[in-house]
Amino acid sequence: MPVTVVIGAQWGDEGKAKVIDLLSKEHAYVVRYQGGHNAGHTVVVDGEKYALQLVPSGILYPHVIPVIANGVVVDLPTLFNEVDMLESRGNSCSDLKVSSRAHLIFPWHQSHDAISEAMRGDDKLGTTLRGIGPAYADKMRRVGIRAGDARDPERFARLIRERATIENKLIGEAGGEELDIDEMVERFGALGARLVPYLADTISLLHNALAADAHILLEGAQATFLDLDHGTYPYVTSSNPTAGGASVGSGLGPRDLGRIVGITKAYTTRVGAGPFVTELFDDDGKRLAEVGREFGTVTGRARRCGWLDCVMLRHAVRLNSLTELSLTKLDILDGFDTVKICTGYLHNGVPVTDYPDQYDVLEAIDPVYEELPGWNTAINEMREPGQLPDAAKRFIEVVEREVGIPVNVVGVGAERDDYLIWGTE
Ligand code: GDP
Ligand code: IMO
Ligand code: MG
Repeated sequence: MPVTVVIGAQWGDEGKAKVIDLLSKEHAYVVRYQGGHNAGHTVVVDGEKYALQLVPSGILYPHVIPVIANGVVVDLPTLFNEVDMLESRGNSCSDLKVSSRAHLIFPWHQSHDAISEAMRGDDKLGTTLRGIGPAYADKMRRVGIRAGDARDPERFARLIRERATIENKLIGEAGGEELDIDEMVERFGALGARLVPYLADTISLLHNALAADAHILLEGAQATFLDLDHGTYPYVTSSNPTAGGASVGSGLGPRDLGRIVGITKAYTTRVGAGPFVTELFDDDGKRLAEVGREFGTVTGRARRCGWLDCVMLRHAVRLNSLTELSLTKLDILDGFDTVKICTGYLHNGVPVTDYPDQYDVLEAIDPVYEELPGWNTAINEMREPGQLPDAAKRFIEVVEREVGIPVNVVGVGAERDDYLIWGTE
């Protein structure tokens, strides 16, 4: 049974967690493969909201074994706050596995994130300030501390102390507030001890599961256009959310991946800075933000909003080998008289077919829109494609035509069961 991967096809917050929750019913393992607690993955069950940052979204099903794989950067205070939150709400985390190869985030990473953003002045990236970039930079520089290092408490304490001493100098030189090393060694020593029972060789675990025909679901965080290599650099995150990153970050081989599901909203949003071709600054944009409740799960920041961009989605299909799309938040378009879909790009009046690789070109693109009639009907209660108004069906058909792959799940509300499967009657 090939592995299923769920990947954001835009700039994040596409509703990945809701689709992962739905797919979790038929999967035994749900695996985070990159990113860290910059993610905010929301699942709503009977009006109760779960906003998960690190623990895989499949945790809400008792049969699922949640795995934090080697490609993730783990903030231990957040991990255990989340475990405590979940367990206090009746969701056992005793099966949780954390890769001993995963790198850990420490307070100095957060200090460096803040210093680096402050130094950029008006040209801030708009990071989540969670220390994600600095933690991945340390992994690259080969000075990171890994989850498995917690197995030897004395060495773990020594590694933290050594690194913290160096980092404190750099933080001090940059005008930041130096960290209390003794306090940190003690606090992380306790967190490290708590981590040990969850540690596992997740690569062997997943391959053995695969050999036993278990169904594995890989949960992408962030998204294609936040990918360090393929996104709108430098306004990106520091990991590879794209399908290649799913393989590296989980240890599953590229040929193990089968179904690769791209998640897109029926419109587009972005948190933080960077180019955004279809961004709206008018009443339509305000309406998308208000009706769609477009405020960040992690930072509470307002998300920028615009129409759906199929040029981006076509590029996401190529980068990830997407096999299908899930189209979420279609209900947010319910009240519009007309809706638009970006089907092409113009640069100085000349059509652009490939997604531009230059920042200044992206900034100067004029979107080409196809305008479609709205449906002015509430679709939230609809569970069969046949119930959808013709204009909503037409919208989905245009997306399929423009992107070139089938739409499968269509989201019609925030609750776990607010979806329909397109293509079935
Ligand atoms: P993720 O990071 O991709 O998992 O997405 P987030 O959880 O950050 O943001 C998606 C938001 O949209 C959450 O508040 C979800 O509860 C909500 N949501 C997901 N799908 C739908 C949908 O089809 N309709 C509506 N109205 N809300 C949705
Ligand atoms: P989920 O998984 C939306 C954005 C930040 C910023 C940029 C870099 O919920 O879709 P970072 O802290 O990662 O160095 O910030 O990436 N960003 C996200 N935007 N959804 C996310 O995650 C994001 N994770 C990071 O806003 O622009
Ligand atoms: Mg999110």
